[in-house]
Amino acid sequence: MVNGMKPLQVGLLGAGTVGGGVFTVLQRNQLEIERRAGRQIQISMVADINTERAQEIVQGRAQIVNDAYQIINNPEIDVVIELIGGYGIAKELVLAAIATGKHVVTANKALIAVHGNEIFAAAKKQGVIVAFEAAVAGGIPIIKALREGLTANRIEWIVGIINGTTNFILSEMRDKGSSFDEVLKEAQCLGYAEADPTFDIEGIDAAHKASIMSAIAFGVPVQFDKAHIEGITKLEPIDIQYAEQLGYRIKLLGITKRTSHGIELRVHPTLIPAKRLIASVEGAMNAVQVQGDAVGTTLYYGKGAGSEATASAVIADLVDIIRYDSVEQNKRVPYLAFQEDKVMNTVVMPIGEITTSYYLRLKVSDETGVLAKITKILADNIISIDALLQKEADAGESQTDLVILTHQTQEKFMIQAISDIELLPTVKGSVTKIRLEELS
Ligand code: HSE
Repeated sequence: MVNGMKPLQVGLLGAGTVGGGVFTVLQRNQLEIERRAGRQIQISMVADINTERAQEIVQGRAQIVNDAYQIINNPEIDVVIELIGGYGIAKELVLAAIATGKHVVTANKALIAVHGNEIFAAAKKQGVIVAFEAAVAGGIPIIKALREGLTANRIEWIVGIINGTTNFILSEMRDKGSSFDEVLKEAQCLGYAEADPTFDIEGIDAAHKASIMSAIAFGVPVQFDKAHIEGITKLEPIDIQYAEQLGYRIKLLGITKRTSHGIELRVHPTLIPAKRLIASVEGAMNAVQVQGDAVGTTLYYGKGAGSEATASAVIADLVDIIRYDSVEQNKRVPYLAFQEDKVMNTVVMPIGEITTSYYLRLKVSDETGVLAKITKILADNIISIDALLQKEADAGESQTDLVILTHQTQEKFMIQAISDIELLPTVKGSVTKIRLEELS
């Protein structure tokens, strides 16, 4: 016992990689954590339907049960850590834990992104804490930074490389010139990508995380359902190469911005200048760049997944619970950083209303006047060109690639311009459009 206090009693739902990390880190850094928290943390129960797998993780350090309700209904348990994932049973168990007056720590970004508002309301009613640092960018303490460290700022925008699987795939496509499908197979063999990697490669996982950051940054409800989401499945190596020639890298970014017309919330492949620090984030690493009016730009980099890195965030939440347990609800840090009655229903703008720059790639007939027709359409739609790259036609070929970078415009103007350009007989096939952010 530290200071005569009984250790914080914790029940773990879901014994997997992260659960194992929580045991390892708590054990290795026990003294250091106690010196900070002023109280011991003890994981006394673990629930998993696969009790054999749980034995391997727990190694006799806690009681294993196959029914999560044995933990939820145990009055000795102070905190439930939910590491099951997904929206289904995890939601039921988290709400049940809250209903019995337990604090909850979760790494479940899907759950917070989709049901966060309901979960926070239930937690407020019960006066318990729901902590979710591990849900966004794994070990990077971005929730703490946004909610507390940057609290003096009017946050302007956040962009993040917040999915390690897709960043690994894009890094490999750039390094080796391989296709998306080839690298995905490699990522699956290496264990980076799940057997069903849909949530990662379609941008859904990144959108979960971006929605949570958006809510905390701007004091709005969590609005995953309003996010515009595009993954990386259609990205071609040639676009990565052209981007490189023009001084850009392509990253899958989670983006949220405050504008005078509302909030932008979007996930899509994005060209960013290669000279920006965040552009050099390679492999499965994560990074989040935050623009605040007072602090300027800040950048947070680290492991977005993995056993001990995610455990680092989960344990930080446990220490916060020790610190805030005896503090009145209205004096704790609000779940979404802003006082509940100050959360605003600021509109999330439809994708047609957002403003950004663009990379366009067109296949054109190599003949007189083609460029003039295309630039006229762009000018007619009030779109200004920033750079042009025309590949010399290969010997014997009558068609060539034309790459255009534009200045900022509204997406609806770009959509109109592209549909006009695609009607030109000298333009072959569809135009490839990738959004571009200067991050300046
Ligand atoms: N699938 C996620 C990623 C794991 O690739 O980043 C952490 O959320």
